[in-house]
Amino acid sequence: MPVDILVGTQWGDEGKGKLIDVLTKDIDMVIRFQGGNNAGHTVEIGDEKYVLHLVPSGIFRPGVACVIGNGLVVDPIGLVSEMRELEERGIDVSAVQLSTRAHLVMPYHKLMDAFNEETKTRDKKIGTTKRGIGPTYADKANRTGIRAVDMLDLAGFERKFREQATAYNDLFSSKDTETVDLDAAWAELKDAAEYLNSMICDTVVTINQAIKAGKNILCEGAQGALLDIDHGTYPFVTSSTTISGGVCGGAGISPRAVRNVYGVMKAYTTRVGEGPFPTELDNAAGEALRQAGGEFGATTGRPRRCGWFDAIISGYSCMVSGVNKLTITKLDVLDDQPELLICTAYELDGETINTVPADPIKLSEVKPIYESMPGWECPTTEVRSYDDLPENARKYLERIEELVDAEIDIVSVGPNRVQTFQK
Ligand code: GDP
Ligand code: IMO
Ligand code: MG
Repeated sequence: MPVDILVGTQWGDEGKGKLIDVLTKDIDMVIRFQGGNNAGHTVEIGDEKYVLHLVPSGIFRPGVACVIGNGLVVDPIGLVSEMRELEERGIDVSAVQLSTRAHLVMPYHKLMDAFNEETKTRDKKIGTTKRGIGPTYADKANRTGIRAVDMLDLAGFERKFREQATAYNDLFSSKDTETVDLDAAWAELKDAAEYLNSMICDTVVTINQAIKAGKNILCEGAQGALLDIDHGTYPFVTSSTTISGGVCGGAGISPRAVRNVYGVMKAYTTRVGEGPFPTELDNAAGEALRQAGGEFGATTGRPRRCGWFDAIISGYSCMVSGVNKLTITKLDVLDDQPELLICTAYELDGETINTVPADPIKLSEVKPIYESMPGWECPTTEVRSYDDLPENARKYLERIEELVDAEIDIVSVGPNRVQTFQK
């Protein structure tokens, strides 16, 4: 069973990119299976910092196949500019494969995403990344999407694009909002299709051949379980299956092939965009965490909302994704805290609950019940083994482990590859 999966267990930005890069040292193939360039995965190697949006985070390890699977929605123009930027920085991107079945984010999807957001009332806004993710998945479900396979026939691709773009433009015109410049957009799409042409293939076949050959495979989740279309804080979620189970549909991998599920979890909690966040610190303490953790979106640059560790949402994520290897990141960000709070339950309508209410209004009304732990108040960024962590840091980690019911495998104490060790 050579397939491992790595997923986010909170609201995204847990440090998945860093961990994928670290784990890929022993891996033959890295696969993205959902989402699109709403993701921003940061990898720091030496003094170089890279932010990946569609290219799998295994790209920095020569010889590793990097697959963009069928479950993604791919902005071809965005993907090509990301790949060219990597090439300019000396990174070989020839190992990228793009699934024929991946749906394409078109310029009109991005306009639609922005229009949907702008016309919503304040309490209904999702705070999307405006990358066209929702409208593209909607077209996929409506069975009107354009896919990567369509780029292999340029004339047919142009016809499909112009037909759909015209229909969207009619709609935009009727709403008196920005339309797509068909000729300018087509020039960019044609360039992207020509660049990507040789990478488009049946990735379900290449993946399953690799499984059969006993290759080591790592699937790279984007976003986090609380942004999952089914399990997240709906409607303040993304439009894809972000939990480990998404690998089966989104990459064409049988559940029988899966071995380990890594759950990446920040030592505190962040969220970018709108929606309920029970442990949010909307005050100076939250601002201090934001500064200490550099909590600004890797894709949009928006400040991330910050708060204490929430064992209820994180435990739910470990349960639905079947996490057996927990990876705690950004422990170092808590180095200066004299006291740490962990949310172990919620109070709702006078009752104590330990589940995530499905109703977003109820979730926004819960009051976190906290347990306090003493901080360690010393730097951990140079620590390279679990036993060398301050005792209070180990106690904090072990309490998290207990509360979310998953065993810690890896701890990360800084953004760099080397600031990582196993328990
Ligand atoms: P992803 O979307 O899950 O890949 O995470 P992002 O890249 O959006 O955000 C994580 C941020 O934290 C990035 O800036 C990383 O470089 C950084 N990071 C990752 N792990 C650690 C860590 O253990 N400590 C610190 N201080 N930063 C980290
Ligand atoms: P990574 O992979 C954090 C959030 C957006 C918004 C909601 C819906 O870097 O962890 P969308 O554009 O997907 O329709 O937005 O989801 N969101 C993310 N938040 N990290 C991400 O990805 C995210 N991708 C989407 O902020 O709240
Ligand atoms: Mg991110």
